[in-house]
Amino acid sequence: MKKTTLDRRLFMKGAGAATFMAGAASLPATSAVAQGKGQMQMSMAYDLNEDFNRIGSGDFKWDMIRKFARPYDIPFPMGVADMDFRTLPHITAALQKRLNHHNWGYEGPPLDYKDNIVAWNDTRYDEVVDPSTILNCIGVLDGVLSALVTHCTPGDKIILHTPNYSSFFHIITDAKCELAESDLTLNDGVYDFDYDDTERLLKEGASAIILCNPQNPTGNCWTADQLRKLGDLANKYDALMVADEIHCDFINKHAEYVPYSTLGDAYAMNSVSVKSASKSFNLAGHRTAYMYSQNKDLIGRIVKDGVHYRGLLHAMGTIACNAAYKHGGTYMDDMQSYIDGNSHFLEGFCADKLPLIDFKVQGGTYLAWLDCKKLAAKLGSPDGDDRVGDMLQDFFIQKAGVNLNPGENYGRTGVGYVRMNLGTTHAKLHGALNAIEKACNAL
Ligand SMILES: Cc1ncc(COP(=O)(O)O)c(C=O)c1O
Repeated sequence: MKKTTLDRRLFMKGAGAATFMAGAASLPATSAVAQGKGQMQMSMAYDLNEDFNRIGSGDFKWDMIRKFARPYDIPFPMGVADMDFRTLPHITAALQKRLNHHNWGYEGPPLDYKDNIVAWNDTRYDEVVDPSTILNCIGVLDGVLSALVTHCTPGDKIILHTPNYSSFFHIITDAKCELAESDLTLNDGVYDFDYDDTERLLKEGASAIILCNPQNPTGNCWTADQLRKLGDLANKYDALMVADEIHCDFINKHAEYVPYSTLGDAYAMNSVSVKSASKSFNLAGHRTAYMYSQNKDLIGRIVKDGVHYRGLLHAMGTIACNAAYKHGGTYMDDMQSYIDGNSHFLEGFCADKLPLIDFKVQGGTYLAWLDCKKLAAKLGSPDGDDRVGDMLQDFFIQKAGVNLNPGENYGRTGVGYVRMNLGTTHAKLHGALNAIEKACNAL
């Protein structure tokens, strides 16, 4: 098979692109009803079917893959984990208002910034966040890194249950620690932690666990029972639980998100949670996130030990996050329903028309974890030192114009899988699947 000249490492990271600043539309009112816990409905206030053109904004997902995949055209970039939709108009309006004040001296976040973080997590998830423990971070990974560097000693082992978000591998190295990889188990389509293996690693001295809840790339939402079993082990061996819950706003209709901090005091006191509005409202380019814990000593140490200097964030990022949490309940409900629709469409399409690809609707995230082992077998062995995932990525790019992330990027159990980003319009998803069907039929 002919090789592309792709720099694959560049596309391993789920980094965000700059938000494309289109003009603010009229602002639909936030519905208090729709912001109620666990409800999901389409308000029709936002046109998520809009064919929003991101080309030319310099983003990773569209512009960079199109550059690196040359001479192949990529009409369907479905890699980097951000979304193709116009962001909440209230966000754009708030940013434009601030832009009109032509002075950019030092400034803190909006006065109600922490209140809105607290309200969002309380209203939607019954999660009580103590505002006095909220720390700013320039990204969720930055918060995870600060927690690890504070709690762990260089050389420590850190447990990662894989397949898991590719950048965690780098963050563990950045913390000067070592990866202790534990494979998730998969039985009848249900993912679980391998508790025996986790305990073995803890006995060997692992000092922290990075939890991804819901999990990128599998889309798995962890149940309270699973989290408690894992948390009991972490507590028994005094390993810190670092809960990355950046994807928590995307939960499909059949599933539930359980915030780690709500499991009970014993769990909350031995954990740090890290979140952001960046996935939910496509704000990753604004580099704004937050972390918190019920354990004030723990949070205090993260600041005091001198590893976390992010007292101030970029003004625009905090304004964007504030407007998102203040006005975004209905938008988020609509988005959840839309992604749920995309996931079901994908499942039906695979069942009906793509016999070489297996997929079951995931619990959360807008990421789909496609089992392509049958397709890989049909394509044959990878060339040279290429990986199965690279071979699959080449196939999807060259034969269908679809960019997907190779499964091995997420750990050793990812071989034979690819990750597809469903944060796009129904029309684009349909177009991509039609192109994949044609490519598979031609094999
Ligand atoms: C689980 C997870 N954590 C963190 C990040 C990156 O977050 P940030 O850009 O805020 O560091 C991503 C992005 O894809 C992610 O999927």
